[in-house]
Amino acid sequence: MNRHLPWVSVVVCVLTLGCLATTQGQVTLVVTDGNITCIKAELSASFLITYDTANRTTSVRVPLPQTATVGGNSSCGGASAPQQLVAEFGVGHSIDLTFSSSKGQYRVDDIKLHYNLSDSSVFPGANRTGVVTVETNSTDIVAQVNTTYRCFSVSFVSVGGVNVTFSDVKMEAYMAGDDLSPKETVCKADQSTTTAPPPTTTTAPAPTPPGIPALGDYFVNSSNGTKCLLARMALQLNISHVSSLNQTIQEVVNLQPNQTTSSGSCDPNNAVLVISQGGATNLSFFFTLNSTSNRYHLNGLSLVATLPDMAAPFSASNMSLNYLSSSKGQSFMCSSEQTLTVNQNFSLNTFQLQIQPFGVTAGTFGQAVECRLDQENMLIPIVVGAALAGLVLIVLVAYLIGRKRSHAGYQTI
Ligand SMILES: *[C@@H]1O[C@H](CO)[C@@H](O)[C@H](O)[C@H]1NC(C)=O
Ligand SMILES: *[C@@H]1O[C@H](CO)[C@@H](O)[C@H](O)[C@H]1NC(C)=O
Ligand SMILES: *[C@@H]1O[C@H](CO)[C@@H](O)[C@H](O)[C@H]1NC(C)=O
Ligand SMILES: *[C@@H]1O[C@H](CO)[C@@H](O)[C@H](O)[C@H]1NC(C)=O
Ligand SMILES: *[C@@H]1O[C@H](CO)[C@@H](O)[C@H](O)[C@H]1NC(C)=O
Ligand SMILES: *[C@@H]1O[C@H](CO)[C@@H](O)[C@H](O)[C@H]1NC(C)=O
Ligand SMILES: *[C@@H]1O[C@H](CO)[C@@H](O)[C@H](O)[C@H]1NC(C)=O
Ligand SMILES: *[C@@H]1O[C@H](CO)[C@@H](O)[C@H](O)[C@H]1NC(C)=O
Ligand SMILES: *[C@@H]1O[C@H](CO)[C@@H](O)[C@H](O)[C@H]1NC(C)=O
Ligand SMILES: *[C@@H]1O[C@H](CO)[C@@H](O)[C@H](O)[C@H]1NC(C)=O
Ligand SMILES: *[C@@H]1O[C@H](CO)[C@@H](O)[C@H](O)[C@H]1NC(C)=O
Ligand SMILES: *[C@@H]1O[C@H](CO)[C@@H](O)[C@H](O)[C@H]1NC(C)=O
Repeated sequence: MNRHLPWVSVVVCVLTLGCLATTQGQVTLVVTDGNITCIKAELSASFLITYDTANRTTSVRVPLPQTATVGGNSSCGGASAPQQLVAEFGVGHSIDLTFSSSKGQYRVDDIKLHYNLSDSSVFPGANRTGVVTVETNSTDIVAQVNTTYRCFSVSFVSVGGVNVTFSDVKMEAYMAGDDLSPKETVCKADQSTTTAPPPTTTTAPAPTPPGIPALGDYFVNSSNGTKCLLARMALQLNISHVSSLNQTIQEVVNLQPNQTTSSGSCDPNNAVLVISQGGATNLSFFFTLNSTSNRYHLNGLSLVATLPDMAAPFSASNMSLNYLSSSKGQSFMCSSEQTLTVNQNFSLNTFQLQIQPFGVTAGTFGQAVECRLDQENMLIPIVVGAALAGLVLIVLVAYLIGRKRSHAGYQTI
């Protein structure tokens, strides 16, 4: 039965050279059988899992961590057995992709997710324990044999009620070589990204910083039509990429609010804001609410961008972030410039930011809680003012003392 199992070696990310090249937030998984590599995947993924506590139903977004390892049930298949990639993480959690190949194509036939409700660090207050398995046989991941399946865009797959988010994906099964094929099968979502005309920015992309970006208003509607996420912010992308001349170029690009559209979704504990610019740039924000503490934070950022001088679209994702934290019903505010680092190739600069992903009432921002940078910036004028006042006081006192002395001296004469 499992005759391939003994030869399937577990490849831990840290031990493979390829891992050094991968970016933060992304997981690299390699399935080998003896000296043959049959599946390689570089991807970011997260799982939006709904579960019950004693009082209510809640949901949690669980990222596929970089510590995920290739499980022993992975397989390079055989005459009748399919190829299989099992990524294990945490205590008893795993995602399992089953591939098949026919007519010059390979595809993901089946996705299984196992999650362990006994893990109270991930599922606090769950009203039951044990491993839950969900599965789908409906995926649209398909590619030509001897090409790499590439899907940088964010895509969602419903796996038995769990909403699985993939982004920044490069993956190949039924491999002929040891590494991903240079030829790619590009998913539909990325095709619309690349075939869209480049953004109609009037200025050619200059190496000089483009100045402060313009302020934009963005929002997400909930299913009943009320605004559930509000954002006002000026955004700047700081991207480091390899040009068509094979040079590493760092570019700073402003988003043009008048060329963007926003969309997304809200559920009680998770909210997504997607900002699209001219079909060539998609920036997604993932927020999560901890319903115990009633605090939210930005836990994921994902970017797909095609700039005019790019050889290939640029992508970056990180689903384990912790930025823009505040309480439900309040908005997070940061007038100062702040840098949200996603990985070594991408960071997002924000200016004049105010955002509220949860507890929006009547379409307006709740009480604003200022970021530390703003508080420090407010402190500087106060400190300078106090110092100046102190100085004036000292000069005044010195003058008065001096006057009194000379007066006294005059009197003694
Ligand atoms: C793997 O390759 C090494 C040398 O590169 C060779 O000695 C070994 O026999 C090979 N193992 C298998 C299972 O092919
Ligand atoms: C957990 O809660 C759900 C919804 O409240 C309920 O349907 C289910 O029976 C509960 N399960 C257990 C084991 O208590
Ligand atoms: C759940 O309900 C119990 C009793 O109904 C209450 O004491 C407890 O505070 C509730 N827990 C939460 C998190 O609301
Ligand atoms: C491997 O698969 C078998 C049956 O498909 C299952 O019983 C076993 O628990 C799995 N092992 C691991 C480590 O997941
Ligand atoms: C599920 O989590 C619990 C608590 O962390 C752990 O004891 C148990 O071994 C896990 N189950 C599996 C199948 O790993
Ligand atoms: C894939 O590449 C291998 C090795 O280069 C070749 O033997 C095989 O025929 C190719 N398969 C397809 C479907 O092109
Ligand atoms: C997929 O699963 C459904 C039920 O879960 C089943 O009816 C259907 O036949 C399956 N399709 C394939 C191609 O296996
Ligand atoms: C998954 O979640 C995203 C964003 O939260 C939403 O747009 C999408 O409709 C969901 N998909 C499914 C199948 O639930
Ligand atoms: C719309 O849904 C939100 C939660 O998504 C809820 O807070 C709000 O009260 C609803 N508004 C109406 C008019 O039903
Ligand atoms: C690009 O440059 C790197 C080193 O800077 C080199 O290893 C690589 O082969 C070059 N690629 C191409 C296509 O020229
Ligand atoms: C968008 O705004 C910029 C300045 O912020 C302006 O130069 C440009 O003309 C505007 N474009 C459109 C299409 O309105
Ligand atoms: C939610 O907040 C509580 C209280 O601060 C904390 O103990 C818990 O670990 C948090 N849960 C998650 C999933 O982060």
